[in-house]
Amino acid sequence: MKVNVRIIPPDRELKLKAGDNLRSALIETGIPLDSPCGGQGTCLKCKVQLSGVSQKHTELELEKLSREELDGGWHLACQVKIEAAGEVRLPEVEISRAKASFGLLGEEIALQPNVRGISFKLSRPSLSDQRADWNRLAAYLEKQIEGPVSTELSLLRELSARLREWHFSGEAVAVGSEVVALDPPGSTGDRLGVAIDIGTTTLAAGLVDLGTGRVIAIDAELNPQIAFGADVVSRIMYAQEAPGNRTKLQRELVRGLNQLLVRLCRSARREKDRIFEATVVGNTTMLHTLLGLEARNIALAPYIGGLNQSLDLPARELDLQIHPRGKVHVLPSIASFVGADTVAVILAAKLHRTRTPKLAIDIGTNGEVMLATRKGVLTASTAAGPAFEGGRIKYGMRAVRGAISSFQAAPELNYSVIGGVAPKGICGSGLIDLVAELYWTGILDQKGRILLPAEISSRRAGKLASRVRARKQAREFVIFSDEKREVVLTQQDVRELQLAKGAIRAGVELLMKEAGVTSGDIQEVLLAGVFGNYINRERAVTLGLIPPFPLEKIHFIGNGAMDGALKALLNLEERRQAEKIAAEAHHIELSGRPDFEATFLRCLSFGN
Ligand code: FES
Repeated sequence: MKVNVRIIPPDRELKLKAGDNLRSALIETGIPLDSPCGGQGTCLKCKVQLSGVSQKHTELELEKLSREELDGGWHLACQVKIEAAGEVRLPEVEISRAKASFGLLGEEIALQPNVRGISFKLSRPSLSDQRADWNRLAAYLEKQIEGPVSTELSLLRELSARLREWHFSGEAVAVGSEVVALDPPGSTGDRLGVAIDIGTTTLAAGLVDLGTGRVIAIDAELNPQIAFGADVVSRIMYAQEAPGNRTKLQRELVRGLNQLLVRLCRSARREKDRIFEATVVGNTTMLHTLLGLEARNIALAPYIGGLNQSLDLPARELDLQIHPRGKVHVLPSIASFVGADTVAVILAAKLHRTRTPKLAIDIGTNGEVMLATRKGVLTASTAAGPAFEGGRIKYGMRAVRGAISSFQAAPELNYSVIGGVAPKGICGSGLIDLVAELYWTGILDQKGRILLPAEISSRRAGKLASRVRARKQAREFVIFSDEKREVVLTQQDVRELQLAKGAIRAGVELLMKEAGVTSGDIQEVLLAGVFGNYINRERAVTLGLIPPFPLEKIHFIGNGAMDGALKALLNLEERRQAEKIAAEAHHIELSGRPDFEATFLRCLSFGN
């Protein structure tokens, strides 16, 4: 039996089968739903508000949801069986727009793109010059670009009519050596490109006018694959679960990218089919899912992916909706867990050209660590996990409205909430702030244990000690509480943060050891990734996320991966540099080192 279910937003009426699981049904119909645990009932991120559809709460929902949520008709979509017609309200999905930004742009990038416009004026055919139309045009263009040119059949089909309509003159648009479009003579048609960063959580893109080099729109979108798992390993596992899942992941990702392209073009008032090239960066698994490649072996020792080289391919092979003959350039990766996004950060920050030791950390679901010295660039990937993006944290959330983004503990607990509303949860920067403050005030010990009021000896704790409580053996720190809701930091949350922090710090320590440098030798520390931008440097040092560098050496570079993708879009020499970086970077597989475990365990402790 089919039942009508209205989904708000986007206010769509769906015909769903009675008995279907709501989460699966939403995903099947292409409606994004944050559900990083893949429907196992552990992440609590798939909350939806129902009227009709199914009124009964399951035992798991009764245990996991608050009284207020139960009374308000909230459910976990993964636990709901559709029983009757009704309405499903989804929480508003907000994306941190900050993700869609370029960090280093202030820097002039010389304009030498792969997309070019070439004006032509051809001699007319005659009895003494009977060259065919394409031969005539190609001969002219080959002189201009000093090399052979090619085109596709679809362009040849329109060529003869166009040449005659325009009296054998016009503008050819070439991507590399391939002619992809013809414009009338004197045309001022746009030549656009798009730089894309495919993150595990967020997709970001920048639309660029390749005639001027100007970024004309930037935007971000939740990676729709999030519905199939929060991290790369769970996506790889999902792809194995059933035939067709790999294709589903690919389609979902491209659907998200196409939505992003529509929004970019709308905001810049440009046409999608004037985008002739896209440069793409992302971690290796995301690039595999974009290309529809088998990624299973990435997750299994010895961690071998299908492809690390750069790739040029027609956009239509991916169903990416730019010009029908537009091209996609995927930048090269370094290793299975150090992808083209890391290559792009190295390119953007010019780490490959440094003469003095520099450390860069891209903080995200995977924390990539890069250490550049005059001998070259060392890279490592650390399994930081989703804690910095709110994953596996009881009240964790992304940096959107309602998220506590910073804390000041003494003398009173002060915090700021994005959007100035009542707090709903904590985002990554808030989590680091809070844990660092609790450690500084002595409420957390060096091993990360939340101390009960009777165990706290530090005077700095003051009144904050009264916020600590023990519930069912588990200790919690109460951040906010009123009659309707509360936001707490649990002992388990602290453990999750320790794992993330320990992984990144161990990566830093081991790369320094490998390169034979000490923290005193490092001249500059660059924090990349949008989240990196919001970390309080002092607190990151207090916690021991990074070694005790002088604060003036620590700089934020924003979304370096996007900057690298942009450089590769604007300048072919930068694209060649990216190839060199990927070929020459020396990747250190941390899990293969005998000293990894001991270093990691040591780095779990707080402090420096
Ligand atoms: S709790 Fe429902 S998807 Fe995670």
